[in-house]
Amino acid sequence: MKNIVVLVSGGGTNLQALLDAQERGEIRDGKIIAVISSTSGAFALERAKGANVPGYVVNRKDYDSREAFTGALLDKLSELNADLIVLAGFLYILSPAFVERYENRIINIHPALIPSFCGDGFYGLKVHEKALEYGVKLTGATVHFVSAEADAGPIILQKAVAIEEGDTAEILQKRVMEQAEWKLLPEAVSLFCQGRLHVEGRIVHIDQAE
Ligand code: GRF
Repeated sequence: MKNIVVLVSGGGTNLQALLDAQERGEIRDGKIIAVISSTSGAFALERAKGANVPGYVVNRKDYDSREAFTGALLDKLSELNADLIVLAGFLYILSPAFVERYENRIINIHPALIPSFCGDGFYGLKVHEKALEYGVKLTGATVHFVSAEADAGPIILQKAVAIEEGDTAEILQKRVMEQAEWKLLPEAVSLFCQGRLHVEGRIVHIDQAE
């Protein structure tokens, strides 16, 4: 059984999707043992509480550098004996030392089809605003392993979502979450926990179910 720790900064609808999937028995061979928030007011902490999952705060504001903050996160994660770290709306870029320590054991969800609309500055509604501005007809979501560069690690799963006439960034964000993010993230986490993901360079191979 793999120990899953979810890192959050905000509302936590992706965390909720993971908790609901766990409740339905869809996270095979893994258990969400803790949620860590980078801010004390995150609604995601309420969601953790509602599912009886311990919630912790490692507050970004208490540390004066990214290194000190990620160092504190690392201490907490080793105390918790984490096997898999899931970034579910976690707003900070992790230090290279952090990423190295958990190489191919950190999963992130991004609300676009990487390599489009990703990297530094592409977060939250901005991602969807940029997709609409560009005029693409398809966007979607990507689950990937985290590497030192933002949104650039090996891709695990992707799902396309259609852009419709009259979409606003808010409408599109909701559709991408409902049709893609909330499905892909639990699926990728379950695949990881079952040991079915194998990384070879940039490529993630997925073993068929037995
Ligand atoms: C999601 O769109 C996710 O793809 C991105 O941040 C957002 C978090 O939303 N990384 P929530 O906190 O899970 O509701």
